[in-house]
Amino acid sequence: MARPHKRFVCQACGSVSSQWKGQCADCREWNTLVEEAPVTATPFQAKHNLQGGGRTIELVGLDATVALPERTTTGIAELDRALGGGFVEGSATLIGGDPGIGKSTLLLQAAALVAKSGRSVAYVSGEEAADQVRLRALRLGLAGAPVQLASATSTRDILTTLSASRPPDLMVIDSIQTMHSDLIEGAPGTVSQVRASAQELIRFAKERGTALVLVGHVTKDGSIAGPRVLEHMVDTVLSFEGERSHQYRILRALKNRFGGTDEIGVFAMADTGLSEVSNPSALFLTQRDEGVSGTTIFPALEGTRPVLVEVQALVVRLASGATPRRAVVGWDSGRLAMILAVLEARCGLSFSSSEVYLNISGGYRVQDPGADMAVAAALVSALSERPVPPDAVAFGEVALSGEVRPVAHGGLRLKEAGKLGFERALVPAGMAADKGGDRGGMRLSGFANLGRLVDHMLGRG
Ligand SMILES: Nc1ncnc2c1ncn2[C@@H]1O[C@H](COP(=O)(O)OP(=O)(O)OP(=O)(O)O)[C@@H](O)[C@H]1O
Ligand SMILES: [Mg+2]
Repeated sequence: MARPHKRFVCQACGSVSSQWKGQCADCREWNTLVEEAPVTATPFQAKHNLQGGGRTIELVGLDATVALPERTTTGIAELDRALGGGFVEGSATLIGGDPGIGKSTLLLQAAALVAKSGRSVAYVSGEEAADQVRLRALRLGLAGAPVQLASATSTRDILTTLSASRPPDLMVIDSIQTMHSDLIEGAPGTVSQVRASAQELIRFAKERGTALVLVGHVTKDGSIAGPRVLEHMVDTVLSFEGERSHQYRILRALKNRFGGTDEIGVFAMADTGLSEVSNPSALFLTQRDEGVSGTTIFPALEGTRPVLVEVQALVVRLASGATPRRAVVGWDSGRLAMILAVLEARCGLSFSSSEVYLNISGGYRVQDPGADMAVAAALVSALSERPVPPDAVAFGEVALSGEVRPVAHGGLRLKEAGKLGFERALVPAGMAADKGGDRGGMRLSGFANLGRLVDHMLGRG
């Protein structure tokens, strides 16, 4: 029998190499290659055993009638909204988020509400002892809910137990990184263990019609730890985000095979657990001091995800002839110089004897060219000491000619801003003229060039 080949798997990206290397050839991470159990079936064996034991499968047409999958609504409207209407039976959902952000809290609350509505729920924690989970339930006032609780890490034990009686309607696994499958070797949390455990749990869920929820750890750059393939294996990926020092949490669908991914759920964290924030506009608008000049809200895009950030500008006039400073946090200083030059040359505003400071709040780093118009509006507002309306957002790319150009995903930005309670948007003229696009219920003011925006803000016509 041929000697099994050694396999070294990168723990960061999952790529396989036949020898150990200090640096992964694919993702360039250091010290991530770990030897894992060899694959027993070689491509040769698989190829030569094609006819052995296979069954013919039935091929059906697309027009065969199917029933819509049943959804288990959780009773937490914001969670249901992010899921596209509740957990789908026989589906797998992955929830990722920073440590301590509230994943276990949210799922325990959801599990308790589903259990109280008369459905069977199993909550398996691999991270905390059952008593610890019970203490949390007590604190959240959910101790009376008929949730089946277990502290276990072996997928075989978990699935054997659950197979013994009627499978639960909802099963929560907290977290997939602590699960261990004895079908393959390796410590829990390694790429192949996470993949194998998830595979077993998902197969059980699909066969038995259980809605499976997996909690996933995230790496320091915010992506879900373990193999990327985990995100492909599940039907829905949710990300739970928020500043830990901040009370608010946002639940966002990154992928959903049963619904859209443009809905978000907003929660507030308190010592009695997470409460729903059904009017999230309060979240951004109450924190803004109305009537302060120099701030604009910009609907930025992170990949395909819209995020609202506040652009803050401060203009300080200098009495002396000293060289004025320009300082930028969170944006490109070259781009700020460009916007200032366009405002000077095309719009007749003078910043030459003023210091200019620009800050993107919340520690964000904006790289989206669509921020130009929001920055220009903040600068004009700071210079003129006229506030931008607090219910308005602004976006658009500014050319050196002063022309305002459209940016990608305008509809997505408007929809997100509308969802978060904003009512007006300052946008490129082309976008305002396009009656067909989705505006998310926003009123649009279109500007063909920066001069028009300045005139509008200064009330010059
Ligand atoms: N006694 C308490 N009173 C108030 N808030 C608490 C209390 N205990 C925990 N919390 C809040 O709950 C958060 C922890 O939530 P939870 O354990 O659900 O997070 P998690 O995302 O599951 O974290 P991990 O990744 O570590 O499992 C804490 O950061 C804190 O804000
Ligand atoms: Mg937890």
